[in-house]
Amino acid sequence: MSSKIYPHDFLKKKKLGEKIVMVTAYSYYDALLADKAGIDGLLVGDSLGMVVMGYSSTLPVTLDEVKHHLKAVVNARPRALVVGDMPFLSYEVSKTEAIRNAGELIKMGADAVKIEGGSEVSEIVEALTRVGIPVMGHIGLNPQRYLMLGGYKLRGKNVEDALSILESAKALQDAGVFSIVIEYTTWQVAAEVTRATKVPTICIGAGAECDGQILVIHDLLGINPTPPPFVRKYADLYNEIQRALSRYAEDVRKGVFPGPNEFWGMSEDELKKFKERLGVVKKD
Ligand code: KIV
Repeated sequence: MSSKIYPHDFLKKKKLGEKIVMVTAYSYYDALLADKAGIDGLLVGDSLGMVVMGYSSTLPVTLDEVKHHLKAVVNARPRALVVGDMPFLSYEVSKTEAIRNAGELIKMGADAVKIEGGSEVSEIVEALTRVGIPVMGHIGLNPQRYLMLGGYKLRGKNVEDALSILESAKALQDAGVFSIVIEYTTWQVAAEVTRATKVPTICIGAGAECDGQILVIHDLLGINPTPPPFVRKYADLYNEIQRALSRYAEDVRKGVFPGPNEFWGMSEDELKKFKERLGVVKKD
């Protein structure tokens, strides 16, 4: 397969009309498997809070938690672009803090960071890109703002919201993002953002007219049995894993695991010496 993917390759793909494929990744094997499948980008998303840690939202996720999972993903040395997600309050407080925190992810091996928000974060995007940190934007539904938004609701349903999303996309582009995630937004708004911007749009629940798509790996593999309505399941690992674990438990309880080829013994000679030491048999 060809060489490492960098942020500018995403821009090239948009120019060439090639779709960009992303998934979230939180572990060494997530990254290894996604890379083998030829996925273009891996997001170490703050969604880890919900699908890995079992939190009820992404708000409790810390920078240390993102760093922990980022370390596992970069250890796979993926060809795919690795994006480290900036968790709630790791970039909003000040530009200095945003640079320091984003810089930590970059020093660990992330190729870019992602921050949620539109026009209101454009100065932070400028500050990050000025020091050489590529930034992916994230508009439409911003899960870190679900309290203000009144839940995880579809965005862009009315003209005011549609225009504010478009304005945000343009502000992020002007501030220097190399791509923009559009989450759970009406497809016509996502299509217009895609048409009106030079940077690629990566959509999740925002229709087919975007430059790329991203899904949470636990959702698409069917590990999460109750994914959002826009997810297509490509496997049913929740049931598959449950069946495998039940069979394992049954085999252990019945005494059929481990079987004769699944454990190893000592040589006759060593066994004899062992028993002698234990005093089970007498020395000749
Ligand atoms: O954290 C995440 O997984 C995300 C995606 C839903 C885009 O932000």
